[in-house]
Amino acid sequence: MLSVTCTAPVNIAVIKYWGKRNEELILPLNDSISATLSTEHLCTTTTITASPNFTENKITLNGVEESFENKRLLRCLSEVRRRADEHDKCRKEILKWNIHVVTENNFPTAAGLASSASGYACLVYALACLYGIEKEELSAIARQGSGSACRSLYSGFVQWKKGCHDNGSDSIAIQIVPETHWPEMRILILVVNDAKKKTSSTHGMSTSVKTSELLKYRVSSCVDKNIEALTKALHDKDFELFGKITMQDSNQFHAVCLDTYPPCVYMNDISHSIVNVIHQYNKVHGEIKVAYTFDAGPNACLYLLEKDVPDVLRIINYAFPNDNVKSVEYIKGIPVDLPESGTDFDQFETYGSNLLKYLIHTKVGEGPKRIDEQ
Ligand code: DP6
Repeated sequence: MLSVTCTAPVNIAVIKYWGKRNEELILPLNDSISATLSTEHLCTTTTITASPNFTENKITLNGVEESFENKRLLRCLSEVRRRADEHDKCRKEILKWNIHVVTENNFPTAAGLASSASGYACLVYALACLYGIEKEELSAIARQGSGSACRSLYSGFVQWKKGCHDNGSDSIAIQIVPETHWPEMRILILVVNDAKKKTSSTHGMSTSVKTSELLKYRVSSCVDKNIEALTKALHDKDFELFGKITMQDSNQFHAVCLDTYPPCVYMNDISHSIVNVIHQYNKVHGEIKVAYTFDAGPNACLYLLEKDVPDVLRIINYAFPNDNVKSVEYIKGIPVDLPESGTDFDQFETYGSNLLKYLIHTKVGEGPKRIDEQ
């Protein structure tokens, strides 16, 4: 019997992946860029055990047994095994053993945060550790579990290059800068109260590819320019440029969602109120201090610098008052002391009470890791 346990991070895109040119291999229409978030606050942990005595493959997600007959899961497993089989180092008999996969997220699924990225990155990395090929390029395999998962295999800021080969061999993730490059960068996730069931990313983007004219324009005329500018902003640690492109790309992505027929509506009124607060905050300060981005759901992800976190949180608490504001459970992650004074409240509106469920304060972090004794 053999067993490995690994963790893998969540990532949040600042230039979004939206639309596939090949649904089977999960090849995107455009490059994307994301930050890998610290596994201290958000991560998936996966244990894979292989044994010649297991009569079948099994998978348990957050304590619930799921079917192994899942196309994406089976594809990742067979791809890692195929690669391992090409290696002299690999003990070939292990490749034939059945496996039991147990995977947990340290963040509630109810948070509506994408768990497929950290989930598939963790699965592929743990399989690679099991078969001894963890040093190989694995992002092209994780990509076939869920597109965004390929970016979770690297630390820091990461680009998924769309590639041009039909077989997807060059559709891989690469690191732009490590997490140590811009250590002041912080991320605040605002989990909004929302019960509405949303369209999955997979389905939403497939409908966008079929129906949105705006998506064609985005892909042909906007993304490449923004990828180049954002990469420069990262290298130069230019927050003004980083923030502007991040917000514009998020807005364009949601415009594409609305241009989809029938439309995919992911942001809600609370999301739009957050957008207003951020623009107002930047306006009051005469510079971009905070940038928002929204994925296929209503939660906001804010990028900002460490020095601005206390004051921004103070304003968020003013704009979105919450009964639990004093509770340690309300602001999770890196602890922050809220200051008594700062940016003038008069400049901001107060929205209804308890519109936010909780906040997660985190930073840019490392890629997947093996955590059991080796
Ligand atoms: C809005 O990676 O979840 O989060 O490849 O179909 O599994 P599939 O989609 P998925 O899409 C993520 C979309 C996004 C933007 C992003 O992460 O780049």
